[in-house]
Amino acid sequence: MTHRLDLCYSIERLRQRARRRLPRPVFDFFDGGAEDERTLEANAAAFAGVQLAPHILRDVSRVELSGALVGGPSGLPLAIGPTGAVGFGWRGGDVMLARAAAAAGVPYALSTSATASIEEIAEQAPGRLWFQAYILQDKNRLHELIARADAAGYEALVITADLPVGGKRERDLAHGLAFPMKITPRNFFQFACKPAWSLDMALRRPPAMPSLAGLNAVASDRKAMRSVAGRNYDPAFDLAALARLRDRWRGKLIVKGIVHNEDVEPLVRLGADALVVSNHGGRQLDGGIATLWALPEVVAAAAGRVPVLLDGGVRRGSDIYKALALGAAGVLTGRATLYGVLAGGEAGAAKALAILRDELARTMQLCGTPSLDAIDAGVLRLPRPFPPYGPYAPRQAAARVPELMEEN
Ligand SMILES: Cc1cc2nc3c(=O)[nH]c(=O)nc-3n(C[C@H](O)[C@H](O)[C@H](O)COP(=O)(O)O)c2cc1C
Repeated sequence: MTHRLDLCYSIERLRQRARRRLPRPVFDFFDGGAEDERTLEANAAAFAGVQLAPHILRDVSRVELSGALVGGPSGLPLAIGPTGAVGFGWRGGDVMLARAAAAAGVPYALSTSATASIEEIAEQAPGRLWFQAYILQDKNRLHELIARADAAGYEALVITADLPVGGKRERDLAHGLAFPMKITPRNFFQFACKPAWSLDMALRRPPAMPSLAGLNAVASDRKAMRSVAGRNYDPAFDLAALARLRDRWRGKLIVKGIVHNEDVEPLVRLGADALVVSNHGGRQLDGGIATLWALPEVVAAAAGRVPVLLDGGVRRGSDIYKALALGAAGVLTGRATLYGVLAGGEAGAAKALAILRDELARTMQLCGTPSLDAIDAGVLRLPRPFPPYGPYAPRQAAARVPELMEEN
């Protein structure tokens, strides 16, 4: 396994390895987006549309990637974001992601639709833990999960606010995807050609989603044009309801799924400790704005009062660098670390983090910025007009390189 992972020197290589390992319906669940996947593509295209004009002749022999992230130390300016159903791609994958995060010294967010329980993660992964809550219609369950996360020592509650209803993920509809997966005459061949994965799922008990146990089945419904996500979630959840939830949680509150500057003020007032610019990796609203383009207006509206993180399309260390230069305090990984765990379990998750670390360090050195504080908007060459929408206050380096003194 290690040898095969050695050949994975980029996130894209990890993705290809995951694709070779998994039956097509399973890979497509992790890889796909909503409808025409325009937002999924737009997230990546936005990073590709920003160029860097590096500074030269600066001492970059030492580079510092660690710093504070959402009120705690982090080995990298990133956290592993919440992703559901991981165990269907690699048994035990949630714990492996959490352990890889702890080893890298970065926070890990456990999803409501994870295939591990709140307590299992807290027992097996010693790092900084965040619990991501979807707003379930069953409020007793929601409150129970939040209380359990508190009791298990999770430091932050992440409320994902961009999923009042599930997105229309057409790859899942095409496959008739359900959790646990059902092998039917139609999809038999797709599962049969991945015997290692299929035998493991067939011979052992299928993974479960413990936080959703006993709620609606997690299955797509072609007639209702509904893919796997969303049936348990509450479309009536609003700002007032979030304020009530805030009162129940004494830890940090992170609101994920914001792209509009007008949504910032009420969230800051309500007591959010951090915001995540996110469009759910293009899995919800198709046609939604790329997160990198939404970032400047959210950062401007937050005006330094709360840190703003970003996710969506981060596949390179240089993507993290660009997000920081546009004002993000850090990023969440979604598919980048998912591809890692799907390609090679815990070693694969660690490999994904190592790739991002190496690429970020290299980008910082090549741009003449040896610390995170030294990264600013001056190295960016942005498409014109920029930003395409909303206001923008270019990020200034916190620690500028001093002027050279004349020696004689
Ligand atoms: C397979 C998969 C499952 C996800 N499950 C969740 C989830 O349970 N909760 C959540 O808040 N976001 C979930 N997300 C969204 C991610 O947290 C994140 O916003 C997104 O993946 C970022 O985009 P990227 O994958 O392009 O990096 C999921 C994303 C994927 C790809």
